[in-house]
Order: sequence, then structure tokens, then C-alpha cells
Amino acid sequence: MKILVTGGAGYIGSHILVELYTAGHTAVVVDNLSNSSIEAIKRVEKIVGCKIPFHKLDVRNRAKLYQIFAAEKFDAVIHLAGLKAVGESVAKPLDYYANNIDSTLVLLDAMKHYKVYKLIFSSSATVYGTPEKLPLTEDCQTGVGITNPYGWTKFMIEQILIDVAKANPKMQFTLLRYFNPIGAHPSGTIGEDPNGIPNNLLPYVAQVAVGKLDHVNVFGDDYDTPDGTGVRDYIHVMDLANGHVVALQHMKPGIQIFDLGTGHGVSVLEIIDAFTQASGKKITYKIIERRDGDVAACYASAAKANKQLGWKTARTLEQACQDSWRWQSKNPNGYN
Ligand code: NAD
Ligand code: UFG
Repeated sequence: MKILVTGGAGYIGSHILVELYTAGHTAVVVDNLSNSSIEAIKRVEKIVGCKIPFHKLDVRNRAKLYQIFAAEKFDAVIHLAGLKAVGESVAKPLDYYANNIDSTLVLLDAMKHYKVYKLIFSSSATVYGTPEKLPLTEDCQTGVGITNPYGWTKFMIEQILIDVAKANPKMQFTLLRYFNPIGAHPSGTIGEDPNGIPNNLLPYVAQVAVGKLDHVNVFGDDYDTPDGTGVRDYIHVMDLANGHVVALQHMKPGIQIFDLGTGHGVSVLEIIDAFTQASGKKITYKIIERRDGDVAACYASAAKANKQLGWKTARTLEQACQDSWRWQSKNPNGYN
């Protein structure tokens, strides 16, 4: 299939490109490079051994997006383009609503115009807000306890897609709710390259291990979890990327929703320990107060994707930490 990948230069998108080409698909990337580097595409091209068509473009640029749709005849779209920093979304809500929602609306309009019916959307476990139960399943309530505009954009886009699929029975939409993607391609040539000081745990721990940051701040050790620190479902980004390839094979009219996670919860202290083993570096940490908006624990059941897609994660936490360390130690300044 020929796939339009919006946001394909980003962390998850670059790994999806590798998996798409490995499975025999081709892709065209549209990315405005607002949170990524063209270097990521060049490195993916080295991994897959061919040129990947790239357009530096905001998905909201309807006229240019139309031109690309007219020229390319896509079979499907994977829509990753979006802003994703939770804290920044609280400070700049309009930027987040405008970017994430408008880009989806323009994309859906272009798909309708050019009769492209298949869409995979990058949703997030954040739509579950405060988990109703654990492990989370796709039928759990969403929207209760979402604490930031980023999370609301994912919730709202899901609703938009549900409504559009209802109105047009030809539409085949798959919403993939990612849990916590970590790790990197095993080559160590592509990986997560956050701007400035990382917000997320794994890149922060990796930068402490490589000596760029002094210590990890652990946000609270008084949660109702086995060691008191926050528990999340950390999924290797290559497993997540593979989930998209598998989802492409199982598209059908209407809406399908899948959680993509491992099914296991891992604590902050367990992550620090696993990364210490993988890197052989001492990782100092300090327990500080809880971070506003954090939940104690969040992990997927992963049963639906396993049953209906035949997909499950294949890589361990240890592999994810090793791959992340390979990327971080070979590229201490990311793509720069
Ligand atoms: P990323 O920032 O690395 O990638 C997003 C890409 O989209 C970037 O390359 C950015 O330049 C591009 N982009 C943003 N707005 C755009 C626009 N209007 N037009 C064109 N390009 C635009 O983030 P990521 O971690 O790879 O995440 C990809 C998707 O997955 C996002 O939608 C994100 O919300 C979602 N997601 C990520 C996580 C996570 O923890 N990383 C978890 C759940 C869901
Ligand atoms: N944490 C720390 N110190 C840090 C960073 C994080 O202790 O410096 C803790 C958090 O309190 C939490 C865990 O590590 O318990 C994971 O935090 P992250 O910020 O890495 O991830 P979140 O689960 O908070 O959120 C991430 C993405 C969201 C996405 C969500 C679910 O940032 O965009 O996963 O997919 F919605």
C-alpha cells in the first residue's frame, strides 16, 4: 500500500516508516518539522535502503495537501502530526486545539475529496483520564479526569472520527491508543529527540545516564502502587510501530479502537533500575512531590489487539532500555 504518514519525521513516525518499508509498503511523509528534524528521514532512508518522498508542510495547508493527494493516490493515511507536550498544552491551549484539531479536519476533508477511506489515528491512553479500572480496556469510559488540553484534543479528535465514520459508511478508521512508547530502533540511528529538557521519564533518565542532566526527579513515592512511585505501561516503539502495520491489514468499514500496550505496569524506580542495568551508568534520583495531573497507575489489558489483530508486544523492557541507551550514547545531542 502507499501510505501518507503525517508527522512521519517525529519519534514514533520515523519508526513506523521503518516498519512500513520492511513490510513492503511505501510512504509519503508530510511534516512541518515543528518538533523534528529532516535528519530523521535521512536516517530512516539509510535503514530501509531507499528514498522516502518528504514534504515540509503543515497539514493545515489545505491547498498544498490537496496537491499531494491529487498526485499520489494514497491507499491509506497514518495521522501522527500533532503537538504532544502536556505541560505546554496547559500554557498554550489555543496552539494545541488549533494545531491538533484543525490538522485533522483538513486531512479528513482531503481524504473525502480524494476518496481515501482508510485512516489510522495516533490516539493516547490519556483519553481514559483517571482510569476507571485496571487494566484498561477499550470499552472503559473516556473523558473523565482529563487534566490538560493535549488530552482533550485526543478525546475530541476521537469523537470527530466516530461522527465522520457514522456519516460515511465507506470510512475505515482505526484509533490506536498508545500507552508509553520508549526505546529506539536497534541500529541506534533513530530515536526520541526531545527539545530542551525532556518531560517524559525515559528520555530524562537517558540524559542523566549520558551525563547531560544531574539526577532524575521522581514525582512522588506515596502513590498506592507496590513501591509508591507511578506505574505505566512502557511499550517498545518498534512494537508500537509494528502495531500500525498489523492494523493496516485489518481495516474495515466503521471505527475500530485498540489499546497498544504491553499489558504490564512498571514503576518509575523499576525504570531507573532497568536503565542502570542497560547503560552500566549510575543514575542518581531524588524523590520530590507529585506532578500535577499524574495518575498513580495506567496500563493496558492488551487483550483486544491480541485477539482481533493477532498483535502483541515482542520486546522486553530490558531491550527497550538497551536500544534507548544505544541511541542516546551514540547521539548525545540527538539529531543535531
Ligand atoms: P513527535 O513530536 O516526535 O512527532 C509529531 C510530528 O508531527 C513532529 O515531527 C512534528 O513536527 C509534526 N507536526 C506537528 N504538527 C504538525 C502539523 N500541523 N503539520 C505537520 N506536521 C506537524 O511526537 P511522537 O511522540 O512521535 O508522537 C506522534 C503522535 O503520537 C502524536 O500525535 C502524539 O500525540 C501521539 N502520541 C504520542 C505519545 C508519546 O508518548 N510519544 C503517546 C500517545 C500518543
Ligand atoms: N516521571 C518522573 N520524573 C520525570 C518524568 C516522569 O517521576 O522526570 C514519572 C511520572 O510521574 C509518571 C511516569 O514517570 O509516573 C511516566 O511519566 P511520563 O511523563 O513519561 O509519561 P505519562 O504517563 O505522564 O504521559 C505519557 C505522555 C502522554 C500520554 C501518556 C499516555 O507524555 O502524552 O503517556 O500515553 F498521553
